[in-house]
Amino acid sequence: MLSVEDLRKGFGSGRRRLEVLKGINLKVEQGELVSMMGPSGCGKSTLLNIIGGLLEADSGKITLQSFNYGTKSPNRVVDVRRNGVGWIFQDFHLVDRLTALDNVAFSLELSGMSSSEAEERAKAALERVGLGDRMDFIPDQLSGGQQQRVAVARAISGSRPLILADEPTGNLDVKSGQEIIHLFQDLCKNDGISVLMVTHDPILASMADRMLLLKDGVTAASDIRSAWGIEEVQP
Ligand SMILES: Nc1ncnc2c1ncn2[C@@H]1O[C@H](COP(=O)(O)OP(=O)(O)OP(=O)(O)O)[C@@H](O)[C@H]1O
Ligand SMILES: [Mg+2]
Repeated sequence: MLSVEDLRKGFGSGRRRLEVLKGINLKVEQGELVSMMGPSGCGKSTLLNIIGGLLEADSGKITLQSFNYGTKSPNRVVDVRRNGVGWIFQDFHLVDRLTALDNVAFSLELSGMSSSEAEERAKAALERVGLGDRMDFIPDQLSGGQQQRVAVARAISGSRPLILADEPTGNLDVKSGQEIIHLFQDLCKNDGISVLMVTHDPILASMADRMLLLKDGVTAASDIRSAWGIEEVQP
């Protein structure tokens, strides 16, 4: 579904050059929930931005279904952003003055859908995330967990195969955070959506099908011990 091969990215030039991603290899299967952890500043958001078509890598290759990119500049991967990936951010990124329904419908209309079809799809997506009775509420009238579920509805409403979530539970209490992960599990299992999620919380990370650790510019499979930062004890 998603395949990232030998992806490299640095910033700046000369002595101030900073190599951030030094050959990332990873795969996400259809219907898989994959969590990614790693120290602050190690390049997690940079990697998601490249996979999401918002930033180009220096070298390497990304295949997402039929999309091939990685080093293409963002203006050449409009179709990835439109049809390939949905985003979920820590701070929800909802429009304050719009109802839940309009927040979801608005983004569909931006991608060129007629307003009547956008509204139908938005309703279905909000039902799917359990907000059928909150469609006419504006963000201020919703809890943090509910606002994040509106963002999830927005991300899945365009039938995109991959959701990129950058610390989706960072602004939520423990219970709401877990509910969001349960929703991801449900979407992966029952709707065949794939989710790549960055989190700093080892408990939430361990709820994924698979955990990755991004460290020193490369990714490695991780387990709960390394996620907690517990060093291997040599026998
Ligand atoms: N546009 C940019 N120009 C220069 N340096 C950048 C740019 N974007 C990111 N960086 C640097 O790249 C490194 C990785 O940043 P990134 O935001 O990907 O880290 P992160 O793993 O998401 O961290 P956090 O866990 O704190 O969110 C950092 O050292 C950052 O300063
Ligand atoms: Mg980040």
